[in-house]
Amino acid sequence: MPTHQKWFEGWRLFALLALTLLAMSIWIAGMRGFEVDGVRMVIRFTARTSLLLFCLAFAAAALALLWPNAWTRWLRRNRRYLGVSFAASHAIHAVAILAFAVMDPIGYAAATSIASYIFGGIGYAFIVAMAATSFDRTATAIGARAWRRLHLVGGYYLLFQFMVSFGKRIPDMPLYALFLIPLVAVFALRMIAMAPRPQNQTLRAG
Ligand code: HEM
Repeated sequence: MPTHQKWFEGWRLFALLALTLLAMSIWIAGMRGFEVDGVRMVIRFTARTSLLLFCLAFAAAALALLWPNAWTRWLRRNRRYLGVSFAASHAIHAVAILAFAVMDPIGYAAATSIASYIFGGIGYAFIVAMAATSFDRTATAIGARAWRRLHLVGGYYLLFQFMVSFGKRIPDMPLYALFLIPLVAVFALRMIAMAPRPQNQTLRAG
């Protein structure tokens, strides 16, 4: 494999994505003099980068099954690293949320509710558990069945969480409906990929 391609594979890909996200977040906050406005921009920025990385990781297997080609094979091969990059993006989301709470407690209280703590908290619990079991050793330790269950339930929960977090903003900002498109597409792709396919039916009939 040519050297430049190795940067877009495995843990190097993760390092590249995580460092880029960190650098961009610092740049965005810096544009507003590290004031609360900039911190809120980082919260929104990382919510959106998280959406992209999550969708790529959660759709990877379905895409590779439905359209096997070099790109979808790359996606499936690297879905673990895209998933851990999603966790890194959400770690920055968490740091920015904390900064928002400290810098502007009144604005923060207005932007959150008990529901955001409960549902967001469950979301973070899944993100931590899924990231922690994304290493060969930890994945083996919990076993293939538990791993599959955790990543499946966690994945669908996060899909739901994104839908709610973006969806609840639609009444005020109708363009937020656009964020639901990739989420619905990922769900549809997974359903289509799961459906019995003609060759499977032939096999079963035979
Ligand atoms: C306890 C956990 C969490 C808290 C306290 C929290 C807090 C916040 C806050 C305060 C904002 C609004 C920022 C602003 O208006 O300036 C926000 C935006 C958002 N959060 Fe989080 N969050 C949490 C977890 C999560 C999780 C787990 C997800 C997704 C899996 C998520 C996805 C989003 C999205 C999609 C937005 C909207 C971004 C936008 O406006 O473009 N959050 N969050």
